[in-house]
Amino acid sequence: MKIFLDTANIEEIKRALDWGVLDGVTTNPTLVSKESGKGKFDEIVDEILKIVPGPVSIEVFSTDFNGMVSEAERIAKKGSNAVIKIPMGFEGLKAVKYLSKEGIRTNMTLVFTTNQAILAAKVGADYVSPFVGRLDDIGEYGMGIVENIKTVYTNYRFRTEIIVASVRHPIHVYEASLIGADVVTMPFSVLEKMVMHPKTDEGIQRFLEDAKKIKF
Ligand code: E4P
Repeated sequence: MKIFLDTANIEEIKRALDWGVLDGVTTNPTLVSKESGKGKFDEIVDEILKIVPGPVSIEVFSTDFNGMVSEAERIAKKGSNAVIKIPMGFEGLKAVKYLSKEGIRTNMTLVFTTNQAILAAKVGADYVSPFVGRLDDIGEYGMGIVENIKTVYTNYRFRTEIIVASVRHPIHVYEASLIGADVVTMPFSVLEKMVMHPKTDEGIQRFLEDAKKIKF
């Protein structure tokens, strides 16, 4: 299972890279806007593309086919690891189909149903991003659609990779791994929580105290 960070924060990305666990990054306009005090859109995106060796998803702002395609073509030139995030919809499907023929990698985002994920795969999206947390927020079982998408993609040998998105806590991560999702993209706080356990800290503390009693 690949681990992506869902962030546009350079420090968080550097820390996760340093731990050796980071395979890629996903961003969206909300995440980039949180970092806007640190530079313009292009500066932030260029820096992320430079420091991350794996795929980096960058979302388009346009909602029409022509706008999405021209933004995608511009962003794709920034680096071979750029993946263009396109929102699900009629125009988005057309754009993904066009871009995939052009050899530009895409991530179909804002996916909330298995049927939407089928269409994303049909038009050749490299990645599909079901938003589990936002479904949980409205009382639906978000991970259920990940399970269904996995079954459908396996049934038809679709090559689109599933990125479990809108992750809220570490339980989402291991549930996704049990289903066999290709990627989980998570906030930095969730990645930190995957590392930490009070019993680990307690164990280290006890070993440190006992180590003091050993004669070297
Ligand atoms: C996915 O690629 C999105 O950037 C993200 O996971 C959305 O998460 P949110 O629902 O916490 O905003």
